Amino acid sequence: MSEVVIRAARIGDAAALESIERECFSDPWSLDSLLSSLASPLYYARVAADGGRIEAYLIASLVLGEGELLRIAVRPGNRARGIGRALVEAMLKENPGITPWRLDVRESNYAARKLYEAIGFKPVIRRRDYYEKPREDGIMMILEG
Ligand SMILES: CC(C)(COP(=O)(O)OP(=O)(O)OC[C@H]1O[C@@H](n2cnc3c(N)ncnc32)[C@H](O)[C@@H]1OP(=O)(O)O)[C@@H](O)C(=O)NCCC(=O)NCCS
Repeated sequence: MSEVVIRAARIGDAAALESIERECFSDPWSLDSLLSSLASPLYYARVAADGGRIEAYLIASLVLGEGELLRIAVRPGNRARGIGRALVEAMLKENPGITPWRLDVRESNYAARKLYEAIGFKPVIRRRDYYEKPREDGIMMILEG
């Protein structure tokens, strides 16, 4: 992935992120939610761009020294190239004082769970019917610093 560059997300990226949301999630975030996240000082957001086109992004919240990975998505045509891993590793490296990190993932989301496990996240709690569209249990995962 030598040509892929990770950079801070900008307000002007919101429309591209919305299009990736629609491509990747059954319950996509709205443009308003994305704009609020990108504008907030409590959020950390990065995009991975290839030749100027945004191929992936990550959004996390950083509150009271703790982090929550809220969203990560890679366009289907660019998966399994190490981009998702690079985004999570950049998040950890660029926020060295943050601990713990937590996230929720659909039980059936094998690729995401494998990515998080490969980074060191551990499953801690099953959250019954945490997701809608379709309804599904969530698995909360934690990474201690
Ligand atoms: C989950 C997602 C972000 C992974 O991104 P990616 O760029 O394809 O992942 P990477 O190429 O960086 O893979 C890193 C590691 O994750 C794991 N992994 C990723 N995809 C996998 C798959 N389909 N099957 C098994 N393991 C997988 C592997 O451990 C991999 O390491 P390896 O290549 O050394 O085996 C991507 O599949 C995606 O965008 N999915 C749709 C959106 C989504 O579900 N987001 C998460 C919501 S919680």
